[in-house]
Amino acid sequence: MSTLIRTRVTIVGAGPAGLILSHLLAEEGIESVVIDQRSRAEIESTIRAGILEQCTVELLTRIDVNTRVHTVGQRHDGIELRFEGEGHRIDFQKLVGRSVWLYPQHEVLKDLLALRMDAGQDLRFGITAHRVEDADSLTPRVIATGADGHEVVIVSDFVVGADGSRSIIRPAVSGSAQSGYFRAYPFAWFGVLCDAPPSSDELIYSNSASGFALISQRSPEVQRMYFQCDPEIDAHSLSDEDIWATLQARVPGTTLKEGKIFQRDVLRFRSFVATELRRGRLALVGDAAHTVPPTGAKGMNLAVADVRLLSRALTALLLRDDDALIDSYAERALQRIWKAQHFSWWMTSMLHTGADADGFDRRRQLGELRSVVESEAGRAYLSEAYTGWPIED
Ligand code: PHB
Repeated sequence: MSTLIRTRVTIVGAGPAGLILSHLLAEEGIESVVIDQRSRAEIESTIRAGILEQCTVELLTRIDVNTRVHTVGQRHDGIELRFEGEGHRIDFQKLVGRSVWLYPQHEVLKDLLALRMDAGQDLRFGITAHRVEDADSLTPRVIATGADGHEVVIVSDFVVGADGSRSIIRPAVSGSAQSGYFRAYPFAWFGVLCDAPPSSDELIYSNSASGFALISQRSPEVQRMYFQCDPEIDAHSLSDEDIWATLQARVPGTTLKEGKIFQRDVLRFRSFVATELRRGRLALVGDAAHTVPPTGAKGMNLAVADVRLLSRALTALLLRDDDALIDSYAERALQRIWKAQHFSWWMTSMLHTGADADGFDRRRQLGELRSVVESEAGRAYLSEAYTGWPIED
């Protein structure tokens, strides 16, 4: 038994990219079906990072009157870079007149799922996509399995892979799942969520001789912190005391407010950009197209920037039969993607300590940090990239 669905755009993946795209298309009167293999509860509880660029917040505010980004989220007008025990504030407002918002991805997803469901979006959970057939035709088909085990076939005028770093749409676009530019890093982040008051009003990105740490927040009662660790570490091999001792040692100059650690995870990171972002009537957005290390806080923002470009391109293609924008989608998206790749790589390499770093590397790194914080141009460059480059709309 097989269910056949016909729509204009098939969106595989109900993450921020897929849901926002479905909204932007609906604004233009273009019907779409969004599928995801996860349940709604799973999507809403996936722990991810949470820095939103100003442009991302402006878009969320425009499309969703009920967004909680301004109530549950917090505006941050700067960050602190810390090294050699000294903090250096990067004042985004003063340097570039922009801000970022700390609003975790699962909260964004709760808002977006409610928004799309209230609008009557055809949104189906528990549907696992397997492959694309007729990829080079004007009506590619996504072959999937429904929650009940039966086959689901979706035929549409365009297929968008918004299905994350293990995208099943990517092979059909890019040749193979691996086809792309890749960089591995010799370390990971050990992340914790704890019940404690904030130790700082703003994020602290701290470089220390024993490694990097990031002090972030979630709410007045819950904090998020990370420290650089070996990617092979078992998240349960450390006691709470070990974790606090490591964090405290990596943020010299601040006494962290400790509390019960109720969630711990190890985030391995890598940089990846798929070779192709579009082929015929298929395109990739978000993590399906690229992955960045979390140090630059770019992940969700890049996904949103992709769908802004793609929604305009699909509108021109599907409503006016104009393929100029879709033909240039990959090239235009890649310009921002590679800037963000560079920024994320730069922040990562400037702030982390390599396992084989010698005296030269250490001193060179401190020289680099100093040359950024002591120069207005350096601080402005960091602020511009962190708060997000303007979106070409
Ligand atoms: C987070 O709060 O989870 C977070 C913030 C900034 C980053 C990465 C993660 O660069």
